[in-house]
Amino acid sequence: MDKLIVEGGRRLKGKVKISGAKNGSLALIPAAILAPGIYHLENTPNLRDVWTMSQLMNSLGAFCELNGDSLFLDSREINNFEAPYELVKKMRASFYVLGPLLARFGQASVSLPGGCAWGPRPVDLHLKGLERLGATVEIEHGFVKATAKKLKGARFNFDVSSVGATGNILMAATLAEGNTLLTNAATEPEITALARFLVKMGAKIEGIGTTQLEIEGVDELKPVDEITIPDRIEAGTFLIAAAMTQGEIEIQNVNPYHLSSVLTKLEDTGCEIDVTGENIYLKMDNQPEAVDFITGVYPGLPTDLQAQWVAYMLTAKGSSRITDTIYHDRFKHVPELQRLGADIQLIENSAIIEGGKKLSGASLMSSDLRGSAALVLAGLVAEGKTDILRIYHLDRGYERIEQKFISLGASIKRVKTELI
Ligand code: EPZ
Repeated sequence: MDKLIVEGGRRLKGKVKISGAKNGSLALIPAAILAPGIYHLENTPNLRDVWTMSQLMNSLGAFCELNGDSLFLDSREINNFEAPYELVKKMRASFYVLGPLLARFGQASVSLPGGCAWGPRPVDLHLKGLERLGATVEIEHGFVKATAKKLKGARFNFDVSSVGATGNILMAATLAEGNTLLTNAATEPEITALARFLVKMGAKIEGIGTTQLEIEGVDELKPVDEITIPDRIEAGTFLIAAAMTQGEIEIQNVNPYHLSSVLTKLEDTGCEIDVTGENIYLKMDNQPEAVDFITGVYPGLPTDLQAQWVAYMLTAKGSSRITDTIYHDRFKHVPELQRLGADIQLIENSAIIEGGKKLSGASLMSSDLRGSAALVLAGLVAEGKTDILRIYHLDRGYERIEQKFISLGASIKRVKTELI
């Protein structure tokens, strides 16, 4: 088990290149199931969740190999249609193989993902959507077993906006017979990028980027190469880290449009921000103003930056309220931040923060990906050393995170530890 030791008090300065989007890659890779062939997926982030997805694809009979940020994928020999519990439990996105396997092979057996650190993660919309497309779906011994001779186009409304369910049903619908109309579909950039990838493969999709997607099923798709979009959540994490340390950074290889709501909020706290092409420059000279943060579906404020914003507001002047409307229990980072001396009160799905309290380093336990990022950020401003344990959570979604922070002047080192 590794841990990170962070020494607080350094201002972040310099430039950092942002990696490809984890959640973008995790959608593109399963889409390769739909059309047998060879794919090259560039700008693929070299991190744990992509390794897990590659492991899953290899277990299905595909061949997946990541060299640097180039993913080579051969989906011609897929001959197993079961996603095992040990992989799905590790990474919920494994559930994305359900729709493509069903669409290409007429059968799929995928373990139910179960919950995660912050509570239940239902998949009812995935299953209802596939049933609307004509699949027979049964739950047996913790597995979803779905079969369909040939999926049939249908209308389906997502009662809750769901990134994963939209991805799964969209992929399945591309090979269904006839037209499918999806309403209240997710419009996150990763879903828009998936839809564009599917169109490159020969799918017929109208309404890309909107909450209403119309898919005309085709008989077959073809393999294509793609460049993964930049990771907007990694980008937001570094911008918040720079603001917290009253630093001055430029993040490169990003799509600023994907971060519009976050940039607005950072300016509200007093940051100076300049956007030039694929680069965002941020400078912060003062203690931030306390600014509330309410998560929502895209283009609203992402739930995946909620924990990082909680850490940021610990340094602000005055009181702020951070509400997560997507995941009401996504606050496992709060008790750990309180160990540093943070004044945070949890009321239902909101964290109320009294900013400006002195934070002193302590040992902290990660429990989920974005929560552990918040612990690193808090360590950057806490006095003395902060040890962050179980950073395999962090490694799921950030590529070379300590190297990137060190290149910006942070004092962070990774050490092996016997502690679990
Ligand atoms: C994706 O998860 C992301 N993961 C998550 O990022 C992100 O937090 C989430 O979208 C929300 O933006 C990937 O893309 C791999 P949802 P997903 O289905 O698809 C409810 C990270 O840190 N819901 O959009 O699992 C659900 O309970 C990860 O990178 C149902 O009710 O999220 C939640 O309240 C964490 N029924 C809301 O929808 C369903 O069938 C949004 O969940 C599915 C979801």
